[in-house]
Amino acid sequence: MSHPKYVLRPETAVLTRGFDPRLSVGSARPAVFRSSTYVFSSPEAAARAFEIALGRAKADPGEDVDLIYARLSHPNAQILEEQIVPLEPGAASSAVFNSGMAAISTLFLTFCPPGSTVVHSAPLYGGTALLMEALLTPLGIRCVSVPAGDTAGMRAAIASAKNLGVVFVETPANPTLVMSDIAAAAEAAHAHPDRPLVAVDNTFMGPAFQHPLQHGADMAVYSATKYLAGHSDMLAGVVLAKNDEHVVALRGTRAVLGNILQPDECWLLNGRLSTVELRMTRQCENAKAVAEALRGHPAISEVIYPPYFTDAEQVRIRDAQVAMPGAVVTLDLKGGKPAAFAFLRGLEITRNAVSLGGVESLACHPRTTTHSELSPEQLDAVGIGKGMVRLSIGVENWNDLAADFRQALEGLS
Ligand SMILES: Cc1ncc(COP(=O)(O)O)c(C=O)c1O
Repeated sequence: MSHPKYVLRPETAVLTRGFDPRLSVGSARPAVFRSSTYVFSSPEAAARAFEIALGRAKADPGEDVDLIYARLSHPNAQILEEQIVPLEPGAASSAVFNSGMAAISTLFLTFCPPGSTVVHSAPLYGGTALLMEALLTPLGIRCVSVPAGDTAGMRAAIASAKNLGVVFVETPANPTLVMSDIAAAAEAAHAHPDRPLVAVDNTFMGPAFQHPLQHGADMAVYSATKYLAGHSDMLAGVVLAKNDEHVVALRGTRAVLGNILQPDECWLLNGRLSTVELRMTRQCENAKAVAEALRGHPAISEVIYPPYFTDAEQVRIRDAQVAMPGAVVTLDLKGGKPAAFAFLRGLEITRNAVSLGGVESLACHPRTTTHSELSPEQLDAVGIGKGMVRLSIGVENWNDLAADFRQALEGLS
């Protein structure tokens, strides 16, 4: 793999590093290597590859280690794991998984032994919340929840936690968009005697608008299914870490769990990396225009979107942490669930589907879909109301989207 001697900016690096056309018979773009197993260059090279894979030896700088078996790694994962690194400033390396949940669960299973504690922001994506309740808690991992945006509460929860393995921050929270202070969480974690790892679910704002490692986090975690892939046609997850050793540990767990991203999916995601910033910027511009067009509508009690934050702490975190407000807009409709359902039924352009980050706009009712794992009390506590509709804004012409939302709002109150 050739590396230019000078430092390239991310937009260039993402298209040039980590891929040598000579290893793809001269193809200008990577080939797909679907093989499940790899032929060793010699028995000695095979033994060396196993030593390194099992953690008994470390690869020397620049050493060409033979591939073993595609559950451990394969060329398309290697290319993707190299090419994605420049998108997350501060990252040394990355590991790719076959979904965002695979990335998140592998992270906890790697860094949180039974008896350890996780401190996390709330609300979390419903799947992550369920993972904690259904899998981590029965394994003897204590999960301590802090309301998103409660900076003092997060500091206190971290300071008082025993056997603290991971501090997990999802910011902005899904779907309330409440932001948590990454730098404050990292500062508290660095001061803790256990030196827990700080992981940020950066799915909503990254990799274009928020860079957790620059705020002191150790790892940025993605559902790459969303903006990174950007076309609602694949599942993937990524962890990017400051410290290469953490990625080595994650890959070790991944090899046992068997949840590496498959070659075709790596190839597909690889091709999307160079446009993620372009897509996200256009989606964000559209979201700003749509939010502005809907603000003040009589059927809407609130358009939730970062530029409209009024809480001083939220404004402070937003200004310190995100470059742009992103492309998720949450509407709180006055008529509660009946109004939310009528709105979703009335949409003609935007589709009623979960997920976000694709080039096409999507809308869903989080309380009965993405966050339905939570009890009514939990939903109320984290502010996921009955009238909430989450909009993921795509790259369509924003005037068409705004007109569609307005016609779907007609007659609601
Ligand atoms: C913030 C967030 N994190 C993680 C996930 C899980 O990702 P995946 O569906 O790729 O497993 C999602 C999915 O919606 C999400 O919104």
